[in-house]
Amino acid sequence: MAPNSLTDTNSPLSADQAKRVQQALTDLDASQCQWLSGYLAGLGAQAAAGTSQLAPATSTTLTVLYGSQTGNAEGVAELAAERAGAKGFDVKLTSMADAGKKTLKEVERLLVVVSTQGDGDPPDPALEFHELMMGRKAPKLAGLRFAVLGLGDTSYEHFCQTGKQFDARLAELGGESIHARTDCDVDYEEAAEVWIDEVLEALAADLATPPPAQAAEADASQSAQLRYSKKHPFLAEVLTSQPLNGRDSDKQTLHLELSLEESGLEYLPGDAVGVVPQNDPAHVDELIEMLKFDAESPLEEGRVLRDALLTDFEVTTLTRPFLQQWAEWSQAPELRRLLGEDARSELRDWLQGRHIIDVVEQFPVDGIDAAQFSAALRKLPPRLYSIASSQAAASDEVHLTVAVVRYATHGRARDGVTTSYLADRIEPGDRVPIYIDRNKQFKLPEDDEAPLIMIGPGTGVAPFRAFLQEREERGAGGDNWLFFGDRRFRSDFLYQSEWLRWRQHGLLTRLDVAFSRDQSDKVYVQDRLREQAETLYAWLEAGAYVYVCGDAEFMAPDVHQALRDVIREQGGHGEAGADDYLRQMQQEKRYQRDIY
Ligand SMILES: Cc1cc2nc3c(=O)[nH]c(=O)nc-3n(C[C@H](O)[C@H](O)[C@H](O)COP(=O)(O)O)c2cc1C
Repeated sequence: MAPNSLTDTNSPLSADQAKRVQQALTDLDASQCQWLSGYLAGLGAQAAAGTSQLAPATSTTLTVLYGSQTGNAEGVAELAAERAGAKGFDVKLTSMADAGKKTLKEVERLLVVVSTQGDGDPPDPALEFHELMMGRKAPKLAGLRFAVLGLGDTSYEHFCQTGKQFDARLAELGGESIHARTDCDVDYEEAAEVWIDEVLEALAADLATPPPAQAAEADASQSAQLRYSKKHPFLAEVLTSQPLNGRDSDKQTLHLELSLEESGLEYLPGDAVGVVPQNDPAHVDELIEMLKFDAESPLEEGRVLRDALLTDFEVTTLTRPFLQQWAEWSQAPELRRLLGEDARSELRDWLQGRHIIDVVEQFPVDGIDAAQFSAALRKLPPRLYSIASSQAAASDEVHLTVAVVRYATHGRARDGVTTSYLADRIEPGDRVPIYIDRNKQFKLPEDDEAPLIMIGPGTGVAPFRAFLQEREERGAGGDNWLFFGDRRFRSDFLYQSEWLRWRQHGLLTRLDVAFSRDQSDKVYVQDRLREQAETLYAWLEAGAYVYVCGDAEFMAPDVHQALRDVIREQGGHGEAGADDYLRQMQQEKRYQRDIY
């Protein structure tokens, strides 16, 4: 069949393409042409499916929404916002704490950066928005292009659960995902930067504005800031390392004073210090021996195995990806079974107290080399410690309160990586790699007259030493009430003389302590809260700010429940009313938690 004349002027084809297509069609009959037209239509549809189904965005706006407990997701969101601005987007950076149904109204582009907390729960500031989005009142999101970055930790059972939920829900509500979700482990920085760059590239495809040049420079300095955290830590000299417990205590808690001299580092009460640790050389050597590797085996970038295991990789905590890799190498039926969907709760129990070395010992593997082994490990994460000093009082020093982790399981003594590094392998005069980790979710009220209720058993008391130092320096007139708890009054009353001095001078208005092992009945801070219900509620009604710091697993939920009960009983609220009361406090930043 002779086709109509096809040229480069009556088609999108080049002259050469037009000629070749015309030649190919010359001897086709009508039915072949008809079949071919269907075939070409199918090809066209496939090509189109590779691109967005949505009309191009009509504005340059981009919303970056984050949910963050200790600031990691917030830091990533800030970097994303910065880079998006440099690309010419008109960026709106919003915390989920301030987000509601209207936040997503008419939004065309959305980036979500959210961590997972608790047992697969959203971070505190994101709780309400999460509930809204997962519920029936969630907004319809047709026309939205979005991408989600999850922050989490592969050693938790519900890895990046909140990120996964948002990703699925935004699609369910009609949004179009423009980039596969990335789930980040504790060493999230690099993966987060790759995600930001790829997502912005995908989103910028329909953006006409070229990037302004000076914004690109700001972008570079911001990314240096993000990398500074672990890759370029400050080497802080240890000035003091003192035990805080009495001799007959069964706990070991250290008070560390580090010098920030000439670092230019600044911090605020509530911030944390990230300590970049080294693994225990004895543990690393035992592992290398068990694996029958040569300690000097070369790895990438001129590293040798022993050095890399000491400083680069986590060699204790078991993660699911490591176990999966080990199951593949060992083909051990037991391990493969434990990784099955049906064995989730059994695996959780089995993991209790087990470390990498236990798996290596129990399920021997032959034929892998040092490079393969190290590739199965994750990067050694820094550990965060709440700062126990105010810079207003301690100027170029930063103080930390460190509970040294030591226990024995499965026939082995276990020491916490960073705490044993600080307790056993570092002395005054040595230098420790650190950085400041801001925590905007745990901050003193601006109003110096506002009353504070601080609940911090064990090392959870650290930031309250900083709070009181700061309030003393500022001459803040607001009342301060501290709830402290530990095992024994005689040996475990951390910073006892400082609290008593502040109590005497009137800075500390009230001090309630709970020593669990000083009597036959265990008494905890939450019991003291209940005992003081009437006064406590009066403080809440007077606008007190409540801060909780310390154990996330038992203490924080128990304290939360005690607060609920106090509000319910004293305020005559029902269960829901008490929850609303606390939620409202959270919204007003009058209920802040730093729990771990
Ligand atoms: C008490 C606590 C519970 C956590 N629970 C989980 C969890 O269930 N799943 C997970 O993937 N990560 C979990 N994480 C890890 C955090 O998501 C991870 O540290 C993240 O980088 C924190 O980001 P943020 O500072 O923005 O909140 C938990 C961390 C803490 C301190």
